[in-house]
Amino acid sequence: MTKLFEPLHLKEVTLRNRTAVSPMCQYSSEDGFPSDWHLVHLGSRAIGGAGLVMVEATAVSPEGRISPADSGIYTDGHVEPFAKIARFLKAHGAVAGIQLAHAGRKASASKPWEGDRHLANDEGGWDTIAPSPIAFGAKLTKLPQAMDLDDIRRVQTDFVRAAERALAAEFNYLEVHFAHGYLAHEFYSPLSNKRNDSYGGSFENRIRFMLETFTAVREVWPERLPLTVRLSVTDWLDGGVTIEESIELIRKLKAAGLDLLDVSHGFVTPDIDSVPWGPGFMIPIAGRIRNEADLPTTTSWSITEPQQAEQALQTNQVDMVMLGREFLRDPYWPYRAAEALGAEVATEILPVQYARAVN
Ligand SMILES: Cc1cc2nc3c(=O)[nH]c(=O)nc-3n(C[C@H](O)[C@H](O)[C@H](O)COP(=O)(O)O)c2cc1C
Repeated sequence: MTKLFEPLHLKEVTLRNRTAVSPMCQYSSEDGFPSDWHLVHLGSRAIGGAGLVMVEATAVSPEGRISPADSGIYTDGHVEPFAKIARFLKAHGAVAGIQLAHAGRKASASKPWEGDRHLANDEGGWDTIAPSPIAFGAKLTKLPQAMDLDDIRRVQTDFVRAAERALAAEFNYLEVHFAHGYLAHEFYSPLSNKRNDSYGGSFENRIRFMLETFTAVREVWPERLPLTVRLSVTDWLDGGVTIEESIELIRKLKAAGLDLLDVSHGFVTPDIDSVPWGPGFMIPIAGRIRNEADLPTTTSWSITEPQQAEQALQTNQVDMVMLGREFLRDPYWPYRAAEALGAEVATEILPVQYARAVN
């Protein structure tokens, strides 16, 4: 049997196979509410056979949205529209995941196809917050306000409330977004955190925001359900976050109840020239973390070929594969992969409404 189509057990949850739709912002929400677009977009990938379908970065507060069109779960009114999606995903065999996020100094931006730039307050933007008053750069020029201790507590409470709502919305897989230069990563990276209080400076201080937030979320997210983190494990830059210290951090997160790490990288500054782009370039790093932190891992980044995914699993580098853009190209990627790998499940992946007709 191929590994890609072996079920994956995480706590009480079982993924029917090891393909996952990586979280991808759709910039198609109003006031945080998911729309019909989300139901059809995410629902199509559940119908297409994915083991896990992740809802995009979903803001824990209005100020934490990347753009005014981001999804958010910051009021009780958001619960039912998300529950409709979670129920549909599960009814079609997928595990229903959601990613909780706060964009920090990268918040208050336009949709990518409308310039990918910061919005002034009089054009729909808002004041941003971050560990230190340093702008991201490039087209994200807003100077964030440095967070005081009350701001830190408030945002941590927002993560906890959002996790409670995600549970109420019937999601059965939760990921906390600590990657990609958003708020938690801004605390972690010395490139964006210049504080001299207990949340900045030493490694112990820079990881404090993440560890406290994670621990508080774990308290309200049931033990029986998987709780995962997406982490930028390296900044690829001198003076930035390194894989070695990330492994230390991951061990601490594991001790605090982390079930799996979604291994990602970078984006705390606009400089992406040092990234060693290439097919599956994060897979060996995920393998190293799986080995050294003794924790299940997944990763994404240019995983497009069934054989490549199968190989990453067979060599024990990851426990499942996350696909982003390839799932945009083809919602039926799992079906095609099963066919390509000769997996016996190929005929079972499609929903009954389609299966008899096409097989
Ligand atoms: C349109 C788009 C939106 C994305 N939004 C998110 C997001 O909400 N959260 C996140 O962690 N990553 C996000 N990403 C990154 C993807 O999850 C994924 O890691 C990345 O695209 C690399 O995987 P791929 O090569 O399979 O596309 C986004 C990527 C794309 C293309």
